[in-house]
Amino acid sequence: MNKQEAKEKMAALVDQLNIYAHEYYVLDNPSIPDAEYDKKYQELRKLEEAYPDLTFPHSPTKRVGGEPLEGFEKVEHEVPMLSLGNAFNEQELRDFHRRVTNGLHEEVVYVCELKIDGLAVALTYENGQFVRGSTRGDGRVGEDITSNLRTVRSVPLYIPEQRLLEVRGEAYMPHHSFLKLNEIREESGEPLFANPRNAAAGSLRQLDPRIAATRNLDLFLFGYGQWTIDEIQTHSGRLEYLKEQGFKINKEWRKCKTIDEVIEYVAYWTENRGSLPYEIDGIVIKVDDLSQQETLGYTARTPRWAIAYKFPATEAISKIEDVELSVGRTGVVTPTAILQPVFIDGSTVSRATLHNADQIRALDIRIGDTVIVKKAGDIIPKVVRVVITERTGEEVPYEMPTHCPACKTELVHLDDEVALRCMNPDCPAQLKEGLIHFVSRDAMNIDGLGEKVIDQLFREKLVNSIDDLYRLKKEQLLPLQRMGEKSASNLILAIEESKKNSLEKLLFGLGIRHIGAKAAQILADEFETMEKLQQATYDQLVAINEIGEKMADAVVHYFAQEKVKELLERLNELGVNMSYERRQTDGDSEVSEIFTNKTVVLTGKLEKFTRREAKEFIESNGGKVTSSVSKNTDLVIAGDASGSKYDQAKKLSIPIWDESQLEAAIKGVST
Ligand code: IVH
Repeated sequence: MNKQEAKEKMAALVDQLNIYAHEYYVLDNPSIPDAEYDKKYQELRKLEEAYPDLTFPHSPTKRVGGEPLEGFEKVEHEVPMLSLGNAFNEQELRDFHRRVTNGLHEEVVYVCELKIDGLAVALTYENGQFVRGSTRGDGRVGEDITSNLRTVRSVPLYIPEQRLLEVRGEAYMPHHSFLKLNEIREESGEPLFANPRNAAAGSLRQLDPRIAATRNLDLFLFGYGQWTIDEIQTHSGRLEYLKEQGFKINKEWRKCKTIDEVIEYVAYWTENRGSLPYEIDGIVIKVDDLSQQETLGYTARTPRWAIAYKFPATEAISKIEDVELSVGRTGVVTPTAILQPVFIDGSTVSRATLHNADQIRALDIRIGDTVIVKKAGDIIPKVVRVVITERTGEEVPYEMPTHCPACKTELVHLDDEVALRCMNPDCPAQLKEGLIHFVSRDAMNIDGLGEKVIDQLFREKLVNSIDDLYRLKKEQLLPLQRMGEKSASNLILAIEESKKNSLEKLLFGLGIRHIGAKAAQILADEFETMEKLQQATYDQLVAINEIGEKMADAVVHYFAQEKVKELLERLNELGVNMSYERRQTDGDSEVSEIFTNKTVVLTGKLEKFTRREAKEFIESNGGKVTSSVSKNTDLVIAGDASGSKYDQAKKLSIPIWDESQLEAAIKGVST
């Protein structure tokens, strides 16, 4: 193929792939199987490699690229990004309608849209190319987040319209992406996002677009800034036009000819918003005719031609029956309100966090108080306020204890923490929480040791510390409630089996602050034995990729404790494995040896397996799966839409497999 032919082929592939991606990500209606897309994608990639100077800027391979930014540049909005006035009830909607009709003296048609709960962004297109994406900022000046927005698959990198166009919309994180993200964060010990909006905002503020690319963000367009296309004179017309250009427009928008229709639409979505795969926080009502919009104009900060109806945050009324204190694994004492059960947003709530003493004082919470409880998209229900008018005088003010409810040690505030902590390392409540963590799945994975059994073990004083677990005898278990002959034997067996666990499981199980399952894996991989890790210095630790200062500090502090040294010695004597086991293969299969002692990186979307399955397979065949491609990587397995890791592997001449090769390996092993 000569250069001209290559150029034509590349142009055709880019166009085709972009059409397929539009069908998949915008219309939710793919016309070809993913494997077909893959094939063409790889074909394009090969051509781009051979002719890098011919690569099109809107090539689908160029969504993620470039180095992390130092910071975000400021972008001035040519047309300010305004916000909307709010309405909170039907009356306020009717008032809005009256203001509109009074201002116009003619019939009005409204467009009602869902108010997506995300982050407002502006996208600029010049000569059809997506050239700039920015946040709203203060409405006048925002931040340039072009490289992050390029990773959002429903944002077209190229549109047919050649005239300057600046469109606006809401970037958001769908529910399933949000849940998945938090699951992963929980696994690796990172703080969870409270709601999809925070997660979307956090993702778009990442300086490294490769991170944003993993966050599965999406974007609906609902408006425009600079607009040079005069022929379309209604908002609904512009929405249709933008849809034709390839943008994702939320399909639930409706034209309403009367305010009653608007109110019906609002009522429908108030009732049904739970069925959407993304979060909405209200309805936006806009005058459809653009010349009418112009007549109505603006107040200082908001248009007179539109209003946002805000859903009431889902709140319910309940009563505080009691306040319970719990002592966490790290000694933090948290008060929880025990509530009269109420049904909110599809589930019964009978507990709400009160966070800490400051919160209780600020809300003036007393036992017996009638309170408003809210579940505002956040994970844990909250007590919002006390209904003072319901007070009878019988309510009992709640005072936080000065001593640990479990061990009676005096509680302290560390540094400037609001939280109260019990600092007694032998506190039974902490030990119990620690043990629950120790036996959990990602830690030592001891089956049959649920919270109820652990409770009894502590109560009967059979266990006071982790190592006691390994001294348990079957006869000691038999008298426990709901513990038969068989379950006692199984439990003893499971405890025995857990001694063989690889180092990372023990490390995670010890519950070192800031060390989640992922960090434990990294440390085990790096140091290989507990002994070496115990001797690791702060400098050695922070030098490891992905181990931050807090983690390094926590590890050093943890192992410096005399009690910890003793505990580890005892565990060692009891036969608990203290070294990292790169899972070995049985050695008799040719295929299984492919992964032995190999470092493998998975990238892109796999069709036939989940990431976890692929990872487990590789690991159970003696390999190690890491997240970034480096010169130490032995193999990259690239699924659909693999981006920079694929490029990196090519650059370093690392072998690359596609999914079918992985499948063949798996089949080879299992047959
Ligand atoms: S129109 C001048 N339409 O809500 C009018 N906004 O409080 C600009 N939003 O900043 C806004 N969905 O982030 C409009 N369908 C929709 C929307 C929407 C979500 C957000 C947007 C805006 C805020 C207004």
